[in-house]
Amino acid sequence: MNDLDQLVLDAQTDFAKAPTPAELENAKARYLGKAGRVTELLKALGALTAEEKKSRGALINAAKQQVESALNARRHALAEAELEQQLKSEALDVTLPGRRRGEGAVHPVIRTMERIEQIFGSMGFDIADGPEIETDWYNFTALNSPENHPARSMQDTFYVDAKDAEGRWLNLRTHTSPMQIRYARAHAKKYASAARMPDIRVIAPGRTYRVDSDATHSPMFHQVEGLWVGENVSFKDLKVMYLDFIQAFFETTELQLRFRPSYFPFTEPSAEIDIMFEHGPLAGKWLEVSGSGQVHPQVIRNMGLDPERFIGFAFGSGIDRLAMLRYGISDLRLFFDGDLRFLSQFK
Ligand code: PHE
Repeated sequence: MNDLDQLVLDAQTDFAKAPTPAELENAKARYLGKAGRVTELLKALGALTAEEKKSRGALINAAKQQVESALNARRHALAEAELEQQLKSEALDVTLPGRRRGEGAVHPVIRTMERIEQIFGSMGFDIADGPEIETDWYNFTALNSPENHPARSMQDTFYVDAKDAEGRWLNLRTHTSPMQIRYARAHAKKYASAARMPDIRVIAPGRTYRVDSDATHSPMFHQVEGLWVGENVSFKDLKVMYLDFIQAFFETTELQLRFRPSYFPFTEPSAEIDIMFEHGPLAGKWLEVSGSGQVHPQVIRNMGLDPERFIGFAFGSGIDRLAMLRYGISDLRLFFDGDLRFLSQFK
């Protein structure tokens, strides 16, 4: 083997051993760099005769080309390997299921509320909404619970250390009953100059607050207020209407309703409404679902109406209670813990 063949072989071996592009460039310098072996050979040509230069020069050039092509081949191979490596490390597994955005759903209590609105809406009731931070005038005084009256202690609440623009104290409403006054006053005003005022028929669902907390009471809960006031409304109407509602709500006629005498400052007479299922896991037990009664004359007066002419009834039902009965839930707190394992069952 002559010196040039040896040189080419050495270069090919060195290049093949270079594991990275940087090391390949170092190896290249040893052959083709300023002091590289090929360069040294070309420099040595100067000492030869013109004839020798020609033949020797051609041989060196041929060897140089072989070194260069070995270099390029290795450069190419290293670049390929690098790309291969990169593709491997950034590989996408297209068989993996995608990450989806969680699908939301209506909360079971809100769903129950919407169901109640739908049923009363179909019975011709208007649906109203009112403030959760309420003045103590609407929450108590207008509903016939004067300041310092012991009846107020039936509903302990969260007081706000502030008054509204008219200087009335604020509290979180303990029931939806203040909506009776708000809605009736607006209604009376609207029809003040009309020949005849249409009946007030409204429900007002929403959040309410009391200082109570156990498996069946939450400091925040939901009620739906109902009010029907007109010139010729009787307790019979309440009974028929409520039975219709409760049968539609539970999708059965196989339940009974009972009115149990009770006391509320804003109704007289007053009654608790209990229901009893004839079948199913709750059969045979009276379950309280609502307070109710004939609107007290003083409350009719506070609505801006004449109690000699107008009469009516009101009820206030627990929406969470109705949702618990409908879905068979024994602990109210499950609704408000925010545990998705529970809530996602209502999707
Ligand atoms: N507001 C009463 C309560 O929260 C319920 C009720 C409403 C009673 C309307 C009579 C009439 O307990």
